[in-house]
Amino acid sequence: MNSPLHDHSAPVLTIDGPSGSGKGTISRLVAARLGWNYLDSGALYRAVGVAAGWADLDLADPAALVRCTFDTEIGFREDASGELRVLVNDVDATDELRTETAGAAASAIAAIPEVRAALKDRQRAFRRMPGLVADGRDMGTVIFPDASYKVFLTASAEERAERRYKQLKDKGVSVNLDGLLREILARDARDASRAVAPLRPAEDAVRIDTTGLGIEDVVERVLALLPAR
Ligand code: DC
Repeated sequence: MNSPLHDHSAPVLTIDGPSGSGKGTISRLVAARLGWNYLDSGALYRAVGVAAGWADLDLADPAALVRCTFDTEIGFREDASGELRVLVNDVDATDELRTETAGAAASAIAAIPEVRAALKDRQRAFRRMPGLVADGRDMGTVIFPDASYKVFLTASAEERAERRYKQLKDKGVSVNLDGLLREILARDARDASRAVAPLRPAEDAVRIDTTGLGIEDVVERVLALLPAR
């Protein structure tokens, strides 16, 4: 299914990287600065994860999860304050999408090749004028290999653990920094070694190490890759 609005001539900037690299924040800011559309591809995997939870599906049953991917309607809309809301089968699931449970389900679902294939066209449908910033793990390698601009964001595992630690602490969740670091290292190894669309930079991606950099510094470095506007 191709959206009639899908426009192959619209320029694409892909921003891939591991979780904690600052991808989400940077991609949203860059899209806002350029006035381009924004694709949060992780939200699609999370949305299927949430729908699978609602239907009480077994995460070890790939056939059921593939069916669930085809059956789940996923919509994005901005609320009055400009925040992106995600609708799963017409229900606003934005907050539920961000939970660890949804993330864990998304990670299991994302390893199933048929699920990835089923979500391809839905991701490509975001390519519309005046341009698209696509945030994920395989945007530059699989979904938009012909993108004009490709970035791969990294940060040391220690810094990513610290960022996550601060986020959780601000939410009032008490966690252990060493435990977080171990989880991040384990997830990196899993993401990089999975058989389908493993996390790796596209050959033509510009790598930016965000360790020790502020958000605005990274936004500027990304914008500097595009022609002066
Ligand atoms: O970026 P995130 O934490 O919202 O992603 C949720 C899960 O989906 C994560 O386990 C990785 C997976 N994912 C993926 O495999 N490919 C993408 N393009 C985006 C996310």
